[in-house]
Amino acid sequence: MIDIFESIGCGGAVFKGFSSYESCVTIGATQAISLVFRYLSKTRPHTKVLLLGYNYSIYDRCITTYKCQGLELIGDHSEDSTLPPISHVLDYIEINKPDLVVLTLPNNPSGELYNQSELGAIFTVCAQKGVYVLVDKVGLFDIPDENWPNVAQTIDESNAYGYTIIVNSFSKTCSIPGCRMGYIVDVIIN
Ligand SMILES: Cc1ncc(COP(=O)(O)O)c(C=O)c1O
Repeated sequence: MIDIFESIGCGGAVFKGFSSYESCVTIGATQAISLVFRYLSKTRPHTKVLLLGYNYSIYDRCITTYKCQGLELIGDHSEDSTLPPISHVLDYIEINKPDLVVLTLPNNPSGELYNQSELGAIFTVCAQKGVYVLVDKVGLFDIPDENWPNVAQTIDESNAYGYTIIVNSFSKTCSIPGCRMGYIVDVIIN
């Protein structure tokens, strides 16, 4: 994926040679997200994108710009939940075979979160089916608490290398909105 980033001239610095992942500094998380869509639309025609819960508007914009097919799974409003239950997500992926699943942790705007074992179930089924998962961690503080999902550890435990893409942004996590600096990590095995 990084090769395509270079060939499209993403305007960010590209770092190579990490032992377990490659990363690219981007202009905010926004550019990182659009690079993922651009990559997929070039490599998988008629890209199907599944959004879990409501999402930040850039995802809808990318679906339109890169002519993807947008799918959306929303939770049960009567249960006061906008994130779909995990069993529903896994069945939906199995049946509809998206190319990309977008998961924002915690969900923006609802703030809901899957726990680590639910996250692991998504990563596992996606890796088995060749489905990419874009994890938008822009709102996630890494807290050393057993009830708080550790994305890196979950990728490792689920053997989801190669299909998990992490997007983050210093502007959000460090509360410096004028600093248009984000990053993307493509977790691979060298
Ligand atoms: C969930 C989410 N992802 C991505 C972004 C975009 O981040 P950036 O400002 O770094 O481009 C935002 C911005 O509000 C966001 O809330």
